[in-house]
Amino acid sequence: MSHRVKVKQILADDRTNYEVIVKGWVRSFRNNQFIAINDGSTNNNLQAVVALDSLDAATLKRITTGASISVGGEVIPSMGKGQRVELKVNSLEILGDCDPEKYPLQLKNRPSLEYLREIAHLRFRTNTFGAVFRVRHALAFAVHRFFNERGFVYLHTPIITASDAEGAGEMFRVTTLDPKNPPLDANGHVDYTEDFFGRATNLTVSGQLEGELAAMAFGEIYTFGPTFRAENSNTTRHLAEFWMIEPEMAFYDLDDNMALAEAFVKSVIGYVLENNREDLEFLATRLLEEEKQKPQHERSEMGLIEKLEFVVNNEFQRLSYTEAIEILKNSKPNKSKKFSYLIEEWGADLQSEHERYLVEKHFKKPVILTDYPAAIKAFYMKQNEDGKTVRAMDILFPGIGEMVGGSQREENYDKLVSRMEAMHLPVEEMSWYLDTRRFGSCPHAGFGLGFERLILFVTGMTNIRDVIPFPRTPKSAEF
Ligand code: 4AD
Ligand code: MG
Repeated sequence: MSHRVKVKQILADDRTNYEVIVKGWVRSFRNNQFIAINDGSTNNNLQAVVALDSLDAATLKRITTGASISVGGEVIPSMGKGQRVELKVNSLEILGDCDPEKYPLQLKNRPSLEYLREIAHLRFRTNTFGAVFRVRHALAFAVHRFFNERGFVYLHTPIITASDAEGAGEMFRVTTLDPKNPPLDANGHVDYTEDFFGRATNLTVSGQLEGELAAMAFGEIYTFGPTFRAENSNTTRHLAEFWMIEPEMAFYDLDDNMALAEAFVKSVIGYVLENNREDLEFLATRLLEEEKQKPQHERSEMGLIEKLEFVVNNEFQRLSYTEAIEILKNSKPNKSKKFSYLIEEWGADLQSEHERYLVEKHFKKPVILTDYPAAIKAFYMKQNEDGKTVRAMDILFPGIGEMVGGSQREENYDKLVSRMEAMHLPVEEMSWYLDTRRFGSCPHAGFGLGFERLILFVTGMTNIRDVIPFPRTPKSAEF
């Protein structure tokens, strides 16, 4: 009895001369005889060979690129180049036709990523997106594996919330009120008491604050879920909906936090290096072709896999914000546009070109920057003795910029409340959060890693819209 087998398994199997059924989509059909079948398990196609004259003309016409088929036959050694085995077809059934006149993915020339973004609903069917999304899947699995092995509890935090965890006001409102005609209170403000939840709510920007509640009971937790930011930045690094991984750990200080973050990034990259070699090699070749289009001095020194291995095997550079400013001040402005603007003052937030200078030109490796000025960081970060800086850490990656943002948290109730008051945050409304500092407060720390930025780095893709299946960015949410 033959049964359905995935292409990946057939290609990896040492055996020949056994019967299988394969179901997938036609990638190409040559000489009325050779069908390249892809079933999504790998970018490699299985060659199915149809005996000449075995099929009637009507069926032959329906074997077109994109059509779905079921073929049964025998796996035999292949005489053809570049493949060990092929399928000698005994039976063939067309499951779904695909009109070659209308199908937008006739893969004769490789379609551009811009074009594929326009037909994002079909782009999963290309080799590039096949590889990207299998790697995305493997990274997600590796995230859970890493924390599970260390005894962290996976915590689901709310998507709809009344709090603005980052205090940055970049929230998407969730409301049942009619936006054109909302009820108003005596002062002419929107009256949210009539809203579904009886108060203003929004989509979460971060699960951290809820994560802290659970860390105060379980010790070590992590979240991994969608987060939303209504920042209007139309860049290749920002999405309105992105996935974030946020571990939160009781009894960790900033050093423990940095050590965990570094081990985490190395572990998940190590996992795909071990388990997704084929897809990484495909992406590496793709990237190399793209690099060849660039002028020599802009090409990266390392190939994709070499770059990933470098990150896994080398220590991240650690330095304080203040030290970074010194380096930036002393660096020579580069005439090329990339690094034209160098920082002048302590206290300023780093622009992406500053971050890129540090990681790509100066250290040439991932950098963990710590102890930022309090004024440019969130309210919950632990204040340093100097009265100016907080125990923050950002991890910056070559080609990406900020991949991780985190900190040790302010565990002292009074200090936290005065910081919140200074920042005009609603102290009363956040008493649930402040209870962590009232009842059994302890030193704790955590960080957030932007999942799509990690995938960008691992796949060598350059636009964040190309590493999330359904990108949401300003002016685009097609489906
Ligand atoms: O630095 P952020 O804003 O930190 C937090 O949200 C903290 N609550 C995390 C924590 O300590 N638990 O965001 C964390 C990371 C960034 O470093 C970046 O990788 C990613 O989330 N990120 C985005 N990714 C894609 N699109 C956006 N608009 C992003 N904004 C942040
Ligand atoms: Mg940040």
